[in-house]
Amino acid sequence: MTSDPIPTLLRDYFERSSIALALAHADDDHPLVLVNAGFQRLTGYPSEEVIGRNCRMMQRGAENRAARDKIHPFLRQDQAANLRTPIVNFRKNGTPFVNLLYMSKLRSPDRRIRFIFASQFDISRSQPDLLADYDAELGSTLTRLSPVLAESGIIIEGSLLTIANTAALIAQAKLTLAEASQGQGE
Ligand SMILES: Cc1cc2nc3c(=O)[nH]c(=O)nc-3n(C[C@H](O)[C@H](O)[C@H](O)COP(=O)(O)O)c2cc1C
Repeated sequence: MTSDPIPTLLRDYFERSSIALALAHADDDHPLVLVNAGFQRLTGYPSEEVIGRNCRMMQRGAENRAARDKIHPFLRQDQAANLRTPIVNFRKNGTPFVNLLYMSKLRSPDRRIRFIFASQFDISRSQPDLLADYDAELGSTLTRLSPVLAESGIIIEGSLLTIANTAALIAQAKLTLAEASQGQGE
């Protein structure tokens, strides 16, 4: 793993944000290098239990075929700037949720990918207005992060991919959650 330093301004930004944010190194198996308080609240995992690990551990063996089929080319291919997908995750206490996962690539001016930026949201326990609030927060996070990162020579790619039919996505996530909960004997 490289020891690419995390810009201090980025760290500060993560600490101040109210939504769940995570940062992984772009190389090796994308180990997490930074998660904020929002991430720890959402997942129940304290920072020290996830840093250095790949976020897939929150899937606890759920198949998540469609989501992972979208994530693989995003992480492999150079072109894709960002990605958004629902994915079944489990909190530390074993409670399942459908995570609406957002990811963007952070590059240096020479186009080298340095970090992957991510944000998580429990869409399976949401309502359209809560998702709209989260989207507004994530959108402004991406906008405000851009000049913060530029100071450290990092370019954040893509703007927020908004979801066309949020009501349908939430309804689908609730169904997926019901299935995941049955699988857990809840
Ligand atoms: C920064 C970052 C954050 C991620 N966050 C999550 C997450 O919250 N939940 C999740 O299930 N997967 C998350 N992933 C995706 C997994 O780490 C992994 O890439 C995905 O499961 C596909 O790889 P696999 O099929 O080898 O598991 C994240 C990836 C990165 C790079």
